[in-house]
Amino acid sequence: MMPVFLIGYMGSGKSTIGYELSKIMGLSFLDLDVLVEDEIGMSIAEVFHRKGEFFFRKKERDILTSYNFNSSSIIATGGGTPCFFDNQYFMNSCGYTIYLKISCHELANRLKGDEKRPLLYDQKMNLKKFICRQIAQREQYYANSHSIIESDNILISQVQKIVNQII
Ligand code: S3P
Repeated sequence: MMPVFLIGYMGSGKSTIGYELSKIMGLSFLDLDVLVEDEIGMSIAEVFHRKGEFFFRKKERDILTSYNFNSSSIIATGGGTPCFFDNQYFMNSCGYTIYLKISCHELANRLKGDEKRPLLYDQKMNLKKFICRQIAQREQYYANSHSIIESDNILISQVQKIVNQII
């Protein structure tokens, strides 16, 4: 077994699915955003606001590469994690990566009214356009994952099947 990294855009269900799956399978669950928040002692929104995005990206990178991930753990990454530095390469080398691929139409529905994600603060009027554009830029990193689960109505059992195969 090796750590399983869940990859995907904000709102794609990485944390929810990861947590549920870890309970069903008796694995430990970690959320990279939460590790960053614990380390800095601020919410992600506060980090962006007070320290800026680059500080956040560097901290996220440091934690990703220095944390001793248990080999039987599921890790929900941040939506931008694979797109900075060589994070995707790092995760592909030391773990198994699963991309939860959701259409920008569905993501826009899920993220409508979201108040806690700093990147979406100023995008309320053009949310769907912003998401589609950003996914077009990020897809090259996301798609570099070991498995891609393409579904707007993702089922935990689909992800479980893949994790079972890894085990
Ligand atoms: C980000 C996604 C967020 C969080 C930060 C930046 C991104 O994580 O890491 O706000 O760049 O897409 P979630 O995908 O868990 O919302």
